[in-house]
Amino acid sequence: MVTPYGKLKLGWLLFIMIVLIVGCDQTTGPMDNTKKNNTDASLQRQQVQEDRDKMDDLIKIGFSMDTLAEERWLKDRALFKEAVKKLGAEVEIFASNGDDALQILQAETLIQNGIDLLVIVPHNAESTAMIVKKAHSAGIKVISYDRLVRNSEVDMYISFDNIMVGELQAKTIINEVPKGNYVYIGGPETDNNARLIKQGVFNILQPLIEKGDITIVYDQWTEDWLPKNAYANMEEALKANNNNIDAVIAANDATAGQAIDALAAQGLAGEIPVAGQDADLAATQRIIEGTQTMTVYKPIQKLADQAAEIAVKMAKGEEVGVESIVNNGKSEVPSLLLSPIGVDSENIDETIIADGFHSRDRVYQTTKK
Ligand code: BGC
Repeated sequence: MVTPYGKLKLGWLLFIMIVLIVGCDQTTGPMDNTKKNNTDASLQRQQVQEDRDKMDDLIKIGFSMDTLAEERWLKDRALFKEAVKKLGAEVEIFASNGDDALQILQAETLIQNGIDLLVIVPHNAESTAMIVKKAHSAGIKVISYDRLVRNSEVDMYISFDNIMVGELQAKTIINEVPKGNYVYIGGPETDNNARLIKQGVFNILQPLIEKGDITIVYDQWTEDWLPKNAYANMEEALKANNNNIDAVIAANDATAGQAIDALAAQGLAGEIPVAGQDADLAATQRIIEGTQTMTVYKPIQKLADQAAEIAVKMAKGEEVGVESIVNNGKSEVPSLLLSPIGVDSENIDETIIADGFHSRDRVYQTTKK
């Protein structure tokens, strides 16, 4: 047992030891100080060099995006950036705002900036093949993100099953309108996704068209996904058919929103089923209000996480498991296709809201109910 006296003695002993140690340090002469400064400086230099080496070792991913116009792309950008950082790599991002020449220029800049791998969302499925070529000649692999670069030797394609997107849209709408006049408002032909979505829609509609139950009274691409072009298309469709339209399938929520505005101008919003995709906040609110029938929800978090993981692995030269193969016109591209989910007012809570994609408060914010 330690007596109070013993504790006191122990305390003194400790105090004397500390004084001696600190004292020793304080009594180092000028010569010793120079020595110490020299070692400090060399330690510092060593640290700087180590940091530099680490920076050189750090994997750098380039992310060349097309547009940030639709709400989803802001999510893609933020989530991809976060996912890459979590994996201990860095990322440099550019968006070209629908400008093909600018996207090529930005990709060249990324290559010059020393990226180890390029991830690209092509604006134009064909012309971006040139970017893949340029990256390859610099020894850099390329991943097609969400949209496929066609006629190229792109190394990997990560997206959602876009044919399924169209199929989900059409399945919901034929349930509502098994017979009648249909309008199809597509995306731009220059985006491979727009073609796949259309293929999916017509996979479902074709047998009913052949049966004579469904008539396609209007079918147009929407140049550059521009909402104003979608509005003009829908106006034209209404005019050409004296408003005699029973259903509308639009390739995304931005175009669906414009189609609904054009219907509203004729007092028809909420009267005619409309499908979209992306689960934009405004679209979810329209679903609750009853002016849009459904949207297709694509969990972007999964896409961004998977893309980041594969990008960093490929940049390190590690093996990446391949799930499927997609032909892009020139090569068989190793691909990963995630599943989209059809959402209407029935399952909005258990999908979009349960996932935290949008909060319940915001989705139900403008509801009349
Ligand atoms: C994407 C959609 C998006 C559209 C417009 C498509 O390639 O799949 O989610 O709404 O581009 O940016």
